[in-house]
Amino acid sequence: MVSVHRADEWAPDSWQRRPTLQQPVYRDPDALASAVRALSQLPPLVVSWEVDELSKRLAQAQAGNAFVIQGGDCAESLLECESDRIVRQLKLLLQMSLVLVHGLRKPIIRIGRMAGQYAKPRSSDVETRDGLTLPAYRGDNVNRPAFDPQAREPDPELLLRGYERAALTLNFVRALIDGGFADLHHPEYWDLDFMRHSPKYDEYRRIVESLGDSLHFFESLAGKPVHDSHRVDFYASHEGLHLLSEQAQTRYVQRRQRWYNLSTHLPWIGVRTAALDGGHVEYFRGIANPIGVKVGANADAAYLRELIRVLNPHRIPGRLTLIHRFGAAHVESKLPDLIEAVHSTGSPVLWICDPMHGNTESTGTGVKTRRFDNILAELETAFRVHRAYGSRLGGVHLELTGDNVTECTGGARGLSDADLARAYRSSVDPRLNFEQALEVSMRIARHPDAR
Ligand code: PEP
Ligand code: CO
Repeated sequence: MVSVHRADEWAPDSWQRRPTLQQPVYRDPDALASAVRALSQLPPLVVSWEVDELSKRLAQAQAGNAFVIQGGDCAESLLECESDRIVRQLKLLLQMSLVLVHGLRKPIIRIGRMAGQYAKPRSSDVETRDGLTLPAYRGDNVNRPAFDPQAREPDPELLLRGYERAALTLNFVRALIDGGFADLHHPEYWDLDFMRHSPKYDEYRRIVESLGDSLHFFESLAGKPVHDSHRVDFYASHEGLHLLSEQAQTRYVQRRQRWYNLSTHLPWIGVRTAALDGGHVEYFRGIANPIGVKVGANADAAYLRELIRVLNPHRIPGRLTLIHRFGAAHVESKLPDLIEAVHSTGSPVLWICDPMHGNTESTGTGVKTRRFDNILAELETAFRVHRAYGSRLGGVHLELTGDNVTECTGGARGLSDADLARAYRSSVDPRLNFEQALEVSMRIARHPDAR
């Protein structure tokens, strides 16, 4: 039994006494301290009542009364913080949620991997090319992707640039949503131009029309507009990896008498930093946000039980989301033990499947990709296994983009390895393009165990 003793006192910096992986090494500690200080004085990006609202909604998903769609880029880029891209990303998530509402007949909780997804864990601290070894690229919050010594040097100022881009992104998303962009009476606003040529467009149109008809029918019957159908909720999430910057954005909320991470609604712990005695678990245990933890093939039942005890000792519904990512080849054999481990704790968790990160592979020419069929297979198996073991899969976590990229193979258009060269833009992991993402949502919407 793995058991970690910890002093009960938690503080936003108590993680600093634990081994903490995946933190960049900065050359100039004074410059780092000054950037972190500046960050700690800037206004929060989200507010505690939105965070609490998300916890309540996640509790509904836990109980089977809502479904989560969490998605966005593997890594956001500071340069690509552009209005068109944000609009396309939001439109895609809205379209997917519409398809899911139609198929699953339950509320959908939309969570972007956006407005802060700027720090990346890496399997190696360094990268070597042609005899030159440089620090690995760790996301735009830390350094720059170009392979030259200056670009790869961790730069503390980037923490502030990341904060600003996150604020700009959230500001625009909030304005779009408040302005009726997500109005269910006008789903045609959500169409992406190039979607019209998609093999899945007709199916999507049929869903939209059928939802529009139902809404009009209901409103004529009620003689008034359906409450709030002109706006939807949208939440932000990112991997809480860079703990100095997460700590700087952690604030005590008097009204609630709790500490909140106010840089995002839902931070999550990545698979590489989820050790029980590590800095990340220590930091996350003390914040009042709903939190996620990625669970991979090396997690066992004892680990998971202890993780749940540490992160949700009071068994609060909506508090803890487990995002499993085993890969299509392992989900069937790994998931049952972990479902049973969760049952044995009696503590509520929300299970979400990330069918991306266990299915990454390289083509013959060394291009990182994922096959659409493996992504679907992992998801479909996950729905079935949860159902078979008396559990429930309450959401999906995807790397996707509203752009017309070619990074994952397969899908209705049958992208091949050779197509990858055409529009491969990700600097980290391959994403589903809008067509593949929409197709995934259609498959979930039809899945008998997703209801
Ligand atoms: C990610 O979500 O981009 C990621 C690195 O995932 P994981 O921690 O599951 O490997
Ligand atoms: Co990724």
